[in-house]
Amino acid sequence: MSKKTALITGAARGIGFGIAEKLASDGFNIAIFDILDKEQDTVKENLAKLDALGAETLYFQGNLAKQADCIAFVAAAAEKFGSVDVMVNNAGVAPKVRMDMLETTAESLDFVFGINIKGTFFMAQAAANQMVKQGKGGTMVNISSMSAYATSVNRPEYCISKAGVSMITQLFAKRLAGEGINVYEVRPGVIKTDMTSVVTEKYDKLIADGVFPIKRWGFPEDIAKAVSAFVSGAFPYSTGEVINVDGGFHIQDM
Ligand code: NAI
Repeated sequence: MSKKTALITGAARGIGFGIAEKLASDGFNIAIFDILDKEQDTVKENLAKLDALGAETLYFQGNLAKQADCIAFVAAAAEKFGSVDVMVNNAGVAPKVRMDMLETTAESLDFVFGINIKGTFFMAQAAANQMVKQGKGGTMVNISSMSAYATSVNRPEYCISKAGVSMITQLFAKRLAGEGINVYEVRPGVIKTDMTSVVTEKYDKLIADGVFPIKRWGFPEDIAKAVSAFVSGAFPYSTGEVINVDGGFHIQDM
């Protein structure tokens, strides 16, 4: 049987690459959408790792904030592999500068919303249209964040954008249920990647203080395992479901 194809945004590095590695070892071919240049050393090394896992890969350099890039990526993946079976909407950005929400600028809000909300929406839409056209179902997984519900008053644009990703999950789950396409959400806690490298000390302290019941950093492979479970087809009668991969952070205390 020919391999299924998984499309993953922001998979040149970090959580997205962790997901790519896991799905490659699960037997998927991998189509990556990322803004980074394919010739960068880290990207080259990561693509070689996918090769070694036996995956055929497509690397598409594009900007998630541009709807035309999203449409072109899905078309390129469908043409190369013949089918789009899984869409993982992982790419996302934090604000370039954290600042008190009484100072948040329109520029920063546009930057974060343009990628995290508008980009995720139009990539999901492009993949959904392709899957509907194929007529054989599929799976979509959106990577949101604990920031979908936990406030950080020094980066409101990020929190609002991740709450938006959660609504995108619910909307596509509802719209696509009749098409045999299930949609899920993985909500990471604090994961060791380039994104969190600028706040390592803060999170080291929170972890030491026991803010996360499971007292360690999360790693891209923790997220990848959850995505792998969702796309395995193990939850055929569930859609719009969320799994927290956060060391238990979401558990309320008093
Ligand atoms: P990262 O910054 O290490 O990787 C993000 C990837 O997305 C990079 O390869 C980057 O080039 C790509 N990207 C950024 N802007 C893009 C654009 N406009 N178009 C196409 N690609 C673009 O970040 P990380 O940590 O791997 O995050 C992945 C996702 O997980 C993000 O949505 C993030 O918000 C979310 N997340 C991360 C957490 C963490 O602690 N690292 C916690 C909760 C959620």
